[in-house]
Amino acid sequence: MGTDRMKKVCIIGASGKLGQYMIRHALERGYEVVGVCRERSVPKLAAFGDRITVVPGPTNDPEVIRRAVDGCDGVLTVLVPWGVQQYASGTAQAVLDHARPGARLVFSCGWHITRDGKDRYSWRFTTLLRIATWLGRLFRAVEIDDQVEACRRVFASDTRWTVVRGSSLEEGESQGLPVWSRHVGDPVLASDLTRRVDFALFMVEALTDDTLVQEAPAIVGCRTPSALAHTPGPA
Ligand SMILES: NC(=O)c1ccc[n+]([C@@H]2O[C@H](COP(=O)([O-])OP(=O)(O)OC[C@H]3O[C@@H](n4cnc5c(N)ncnc54)[C@H](OP(=O)(O)O)[C@@H]3O)[C@@H](O)[C@H]2O)c1
Repeated sequence: MGTDRMKKVCIIGASGKLGQYMIRHALERGYEVVGVCRERSVPKLAAFGDRITVVPGPTNDPEVIRRAVDGCDGVLTVLVPWGVQQYASGTAQAVLDHARPGARLVFSCGWHITRDGKDRYSWRFTTLLRIATWLGRLFRAVEIDDQVEACRRVFASDTRWTVVRGSSLEEGESQGLPVWSRHVGDPVLASDLTRRVDFALFMVEALTDDTLVQEAPAIVGCRTPSALAHTPGPA
């Protein structure tokens, strides 16, 4: 899809850190923006004033999502596994069910999501993930398995999706569009660090990048040592 055909976008999970960066990138491109966030988080979006439309409500509520994505050419979804209420899979399903046919759907998650099982994780990464999954379940705070289920449903759909898999994140000025690879474990990703603002940039750029349709790019900051060492530079 060319940039000219991307006019109105919905950002689901708009009030979080990633969501707010995505709003800024989308507004800079001149898109009309609709944001969805929990009712209690609406004040976090006050700085955007009337430059965006806010639809308050839980992101896994199909009716909230149906209203929010109406007429949108693209939908950017922050998939978060909070609570034990199938929040991530409910959110993904609502987007898959209600976005208009042909809309570009871009979802965020972490490197722990694997599309084809060919990702190679370090011992440290796998151990930390196991501990986080176990603790999340124990305290009924986070349901990482549900984010896995959400992505499984996206991968199985015939929509125009992209699942962007973020590395560890840090704050800071933009360094530019992250580089990506199909598989965690590839040398280019070894630095495992991306600025959050650039994660958001990649999500928004993906809306108009047809080469990313039905891809699950794992990203890393373009100025990190591994990206600089393994990305071809100018001759
Ligand atoms: N954090 C990392 O290191 C990391 C690493 C790799 C990938 N990622 C991916 O990046 C994306 C965003 O991560 P982030 O860390 O930058 O977070 P974030 O943008 O701050 O987003 C957190 C989101 O979760 C919502 N939220 C928080 N508590 C909630 C609750 N109890 N119930 C429902 N919603 C709740 C927030 O909404 P409110 O504004 O309403 O609270 C917000 O939309 C996720 O897809 C994550 O998998 C993160």
